[in-house]
Amino acid sequence: MHLLDLITRKRDGGRITPDEWRAFAAGYAAGRYPDYQVSALLMAVFFRGMDADEGFALMQGMLESGGRLDFKGLGKPVIDKHSTGGVGDKTSIPLAPLLATLGVAVPMMSGRGLGHTGGTLDKLEAIPGFNTRLSLAEAKAQVERLGCALIGQTGEIAPADKKLYALRDATATVEAIPLIAASIMSKKLAEGLTGLVLDVKTGSGSFMPEFDRATQLAQTMVAIGERCGCPTVALMTSMHHPLGVACGNALEIEESLDILHGGGPADTREVTVALGAEMLVLGRLAPNHGEARRQLESAIADGSALEMFRRIVEAQGGDPRVVDDPRGVLPQAPRQSVVTAPRAGAVQTVAPRVIGRGIIALGGGRLTMEDTVDPAVGFHILVRPGQGVTRGQPLAVIYARDDAGIDAGKACLASAITIGDEDFVPPPLVSHRVTAAGVEEYGDG
Ligand code: URA
Repeated sequence: MHLLDLITRKRDGGRITPDEWRAFAAGYAAGRYPDYQVSALLMAVFFRGMDADEGFALMQGMLESGGRLDFKGLGKPVIDKHSTGGVGDKTSIPLAPLLATLGVAVPMMSGRGLGHTGGTLDKLEAIPGFNTRLSLAEAKAQVERLGCALIGQTGEIAPADKKLYALRDATATVEAIPLIAASIMSKKLAEGLTGLVLDVKTGSGSFMPEFDRATQLAQTMVAIGERCGCPTVALMTSMHHPLGVACGNALEIEESLDILHGGGPADTREVTVALGAEMLVLGRLAPNHGEARRQLESAIADGSALEMFRRIVEAQGGDPRVVDDPRGVLPQAPRQSVVTAPRAGAVQTVAPRVIGRGIIALGGGRLTMEDTVDPAVGFHILVRPGQGVTRGQPLAVIYARDDAGIDAGKACLASAITIGDEDFVPPPLVSHRVTAAGVEEYGDG
């Protein structure tokens, strides 16, 4: 197969056959094609698109380029959750132990933060000693023993995607729906899942801000999952403002623990429970969403999910005392400053992208994968769009390393949080549910 033929055909609006896409993925993983030609092919796809069969074949080729987890014979549903990412999005952390407690095997594979969005691996690594770098064999053994492992994408999983994603990042070709769907699903389907729940974010802080494009991405991923025999459901959730109060790695672990202790902000709790309910119903462990919600609430109330989190932390080398004494164990920022409302009114925006960039300015995020992150820094955001505030009311707390961090935090909050006179009704937190049957408005029935 000559890559030049594929580039030419795609450039001119033609179709690449499924066999050609699979051969391309295998060949690229094996180092047979130079990046300059693959870049040209990616740009042709960016402008010309791919049909469903092409996207599926590329996904298959990337999936088959690496190893997979296999849980046949485990006798449990094997279900993961994937979020397209945002600011303050920590739901994976309470969800994994919750679902493991309720009988789901959860091989949760997460990513690192990049740009304005945070990553679950960075959050977990804020717990002293926590090791996310398990091999596939170690992850499998832990899932079989405990019901859950919290890991990163090892070099064994979908290596073709790893190379291709890095090249897309460097060639402005990430934002193509078929490429994103193939990339995400090649990694998720390598986990040997019997079901997958997707949290597709929309709004200004999300990776794909426009609702229609985000929904199209959700539908494309759901179709790929179903075609592979992995029942897949997506919830469309709001990233018009950060999720919850805590934004920053250690702060988000603390909020996740609050959720497992039965507290935490209502929005973090609602998205966690909504996603968890989908996972339980997909795993046939609950007959409907109402019953699934009751099971989740009771695993929080009786302390079993918290106990499971302690066991996971211990199994992965982390300090389990974090569960009872997060502030005593997690790194703490030496400087804190409260920012107050300059006037009375209604909060118009809490711009998540600006908050995410602010975390980078404080040293808690990454512009490139090589950057290191300071786990202690970040924000507590105390207000939501639509909320009425009085002059002098606390809006946020900055957690910083030094005075320069406090100044950067203040500058960020001054542009992220705006107050005006208009009444403002924020969009729903969970707006739609996407399944193989179509897109429906979200209800918890
Ligand atoms: N996340 C991925 O894993 N792949 C993409 O292409 C985009 C986001």
